[in-house]
Amino acid sequence: MTLGLSASGIWKKYNGDQILRDCSFSFNEQGIYVLTGANGCGKSTFLRICTLIEEPDSGEIHYSVDGRMVQKDLELKRRITLVLPKVGVFNTTVLKNVAYGLKIRGIGGTEATERVAKALEFVELRHKMDQNALTLSSGETQRLGIARALVINPEILFLDEPTASVDQKNTGIIEDIILNMKRDSMATVVITTHDREQAARLADHLLVMNEGKILPC
Ligand SMILES: Nc1ncnc2c1ncn2[C@@H]1O[C@H](COP(=O)(O)OP(=O)(O)OP(=O)(O)O)[C@@H](O)[C@H]1O
Ligand SMILES: [Mg+2]
Repeated sequence: MTLGLSASGIWKKYNGDQILRDCSFSFNEQGIYVLTGANGCGKSTFLRICTLIEEPDSGEIHYSVDGRMVQKDLELKRRITLVLPKVGVFNTTVLKNVAYGLKIRGIGGTEATERVAKALEFVELRHKMDQNALTLSSGETQRLGIARALVINPEILFLDEPTASVDQKNTGIIEDIILNMKRDSMATVVITTHDREQAARLADHLLVMNEGKILPC
């Protein structure tokens, strides 16, 4: 059972500028999708539309399992997550930042503790769990954002430029996190990047956005 996503005929305009033009793409296979394209071409916009944060002007987003459409309700929103390029954190410990997503879903106790520990271990931040999240470096903050997403066990994880503002060491750690997610069949991953070498290192499916459309390359 794999959650798949089909975007069909998506159009989106901001202030008179047509950003997405009849953009269609299906994410129906497991593995890592890497989306590239020039600054301002609409990658982040497309990810927000795919994750139901924003509505397209026209076109459809469908989620499905084994060809059967899934309702776009709260339950679906638990199965997909978008991590933004600049992760915002709460003024509290790393642990509480990660546990928050479980708390609002009514998950506490031992289950929460174990899931948080596992997510922090996965992003190599377990040793920082009692530190205030505001004191993390930008690379660590990005990893915290990924841990917060992972603790929910999403089936499709969207990462918008996860390494844009982090150093080489953290870039390596984040790439390993993404590759380990694939190794462990944890989630389909969709990431955007401007780093061609990174795209080559990660991509099972390499996509480019051009003139408001996504093309496989
Ligand atoms: N909410 C918004 N209101 C107005 N304009 C917007 C909005 N969101 C995006 N845009 C504009 O739409 C265009 C596409 O932006 P988007 O962030 O999707 O591009 P991108 O491909 O992600 O770029 P980058 O590689 O720089 O991250 C840009 O010109 C941006 O200014
Ligand atoms: Mg962007």
